[in-house]
Amino acid sequence: MSWMIVIVKMEDDRMDVVFVEDYEAMSRRAAEIVAGQIRQKPDSVLGLATGSTPLGLYRLLCRWYAAGRLDFSAVTTFNLDEYIGLSPTHPQSYHAFMQEHLFSKVNLCPARCFLPDGMAGDVLAEAGRYDARIEAAGGIDLQVLGIGRNGHIGFNEPDDHFAVRTHRVHLRDDTIQANARFFPRLADVPREAISVGMGAIMKAQHVVLLASGSDKAEAVHRAVCGVVTPRVPASILQLHRAATVLVDADAAALMPEKWRHAGRIHIG
Ligand code: PGA
Repeated sequence: MSWMIVIVKMEDDRMDVVFVEDYEAMSRRAAEIVAGQIRQKPDSVLGLATGSTPLGLYRLLCRWYAAGRLDFSAVTTFNLDEYIGLSPTHPQSYHAFMQEHLFSKVNLCPARCFLPDGMAGDVLAEAGRYDARIEAAGGIDLQVLGIGRNGHIGFNEPDDHFAVRTHRVHLRDDTIQANARFFPRLADVPREAISVGMGAIMKAQHVVLLASGSDKAEAVHRAVCGVVTPRVPASILQLHRAATVLVDADAAALMPEKWRHAGRIHIG
């Protein structure tokens, strides 16, 4: 017997695409969403991202915490990914990134801030442990995502299938090139990573994808307006029940004008 899976997408399931002017506006809108989540549910489980894109978001969250406007004491966080072979203290590790830009500046409980262990001897076992921890925490309430120039989310690279569970990733050349700016030499960029899969992302109650800059325009266009395909991993978010895409003017440059006036899509 052969089976065909038909995905029925209701008009109302459409991504909520919010057009904002620039990086600052995108960061502010994202910070308002994260802050609103924490105020509404102080023990929220946040899915967090690294990279240049969420820096403005983290800066605002730290500022609002310092001003007494936010309390992270009951929050749990799970990061999307970590390089294989980098220890938590390696300056280019995502552990170190999160320490520098968020964890050391707010009152998150260190025992509730999780990233995959890039030094795990048994990566498969570590991946299974990470998924089990996310499930034990009740899943992600709000997942923050950046998008790669090749359409990746987390380190879910373009492929011929969507990986569901946390898994080992061989980074593609374009990703290695893109990340080389954080390392002294191209040869220093790790070739492998552990990444959360699409299962945890798609099960998140709410997903917020941030995209800024003209180098993201093609990826945004393909992810939001194109077909759902593992060749453009972010396109799977078209099927998410509550996905918000915050795009600045440069990242939205290739979006058709009519999208700006359709349905739940609006100008921020
Ligand atoms: P960036 O990376 O924020 O540094 O552009 C995003 C990503 O690769 O997911």
